[in-house]
Amino acid sequence: MTRVGCTVNVPGMHGSLEVDGTILVTGATGTIGSEVFRRLAAAGDRPRALVRDTQSALARLGEGAEHVVGDLDRRESLDVAMAGIDRVFLLTRQSSRQGAQERNVIDAAASAGVRRVVKLSVFRADERSPLRIARQHRDTERALEASGLAYVIVRPVFLMQNLLAMVRGEAIRTAAGAGRVAMVDARDVAATAVAALTRGGGDGKTYTLTGPQPLSFDEVAAIVSQQTGARVRHQHVAPDDVRRAVERSGAEAWFAADMAELHGMLANGYEDLVTDDVCDATGTAPGMLAEFAFDFADRLAAGTQPPPSGLA
Ligand SMILES: NC(=O)c1ccc[n+]([C@@H]2O[C@H](COP(=O)([O-])OP(=O)(O)OC[C@H]3O[C@@H](n4cnc5c(N)ncnc54)[C@H](OP(=O)(O)O)[C@@H]3O)[C@@H](O)[C@H]2O)c1
Repeated sequence: MTRVGCTVNVPGMHGSLEVDGTILVTGATGTIGSEVFRRLAAAGDRPRALVRDTQSALARLGEGAEHVVGDLDRRESLDVAMAGIDRVFLLTRQSSRQGAQERNVIDAAASAGVRRVVKLSVFRADERSPLRIARQHRDTERALEASGLAYVIVRPVFLMQNLLAMVRGEAIRTAAGAGRVAMVDARDVAATAVAALTRGGGDGKTYTLTGPQPLSFDEVAAIVSQQTGARVRHQHVAPDDVRRAVERSGAEAWFAADMAELHGMLANGYEDLVTDDVCDATGTAPGMLAEFAFDFADRLAAGTQPPPSGLA
């Protein structure tokens, strides 16, 4: 599948950060982190995954994947994990522990003399944001800025991979109305993080990552239908329905409320913009939604099927 061309031709990072040092990847079994790990390993770099459980980590990352067992909540385990590390990919899950966990990583990295931290943040991280997730990411960005460590910050918009959980029984349910979102593929987020981890320059830079095209969820549903062969429509629901659905998925109440709020913001064009930052960092244009839907067609189509009996 073809990609639109890069509209900028000035890579933001130059040369190689070199070397044979090891890169600690946190969140390495998750959506973005597993892709960061895989890309680093494929390029001959030396990623070490921080994992909570060896067996499930090796199942996800492949037998032989270099890893260290640790927990973001236990600072002493991070001190052990940092031995011999010179760069860190910092990603934590959205939870009320997130700020404390990220500070643990930053403090351990500073003590270990790490050369660069690449932090996964969120679009428009801002202490005045109505979204708690954006406020807490901004708090950690500030801690990183004050740490004395060299750093790069990566702020993606809504991930295309969210659709894997949103396509359910022939519908994508949102409270985003006709609002358009330039959602980004997590694989492009990972590629940007890898560039920031492995190339020189760019210290202190913040990348705001979007996909190549703002799309309404009606258009998203049409593209998913086209690529999967399944019939998927966009069903408009109330913000409170979004909140309840996110809470049912096991998220904390504040995060569910954030998602309800976010859908209202998306309806008003909050993520209706395209940046050049994936191009700028990687030299490659971000992938279109059609490419994502083609690559993940089986999983998207599986979401349209009724759940097996007994699980409804
Ligand atoms: N989804 C979006 O649209 C979007 C957009 C912008 C930014 N973001 C940001 O992206 C981040 C989430 O990324 P993701 O979706 O790739 O995450 P994810 O798939 O939920 O993965 C989370 C990772 O964190 C690990 N983890 C959780 N608790 C841990 C602990 N106590 N100690 C060690 N590891 C732990 C998990 O390991 P286990 O396998 O052990 O559970 C897993 O590897 C969040 O910060 C979010 O704000 C998301």
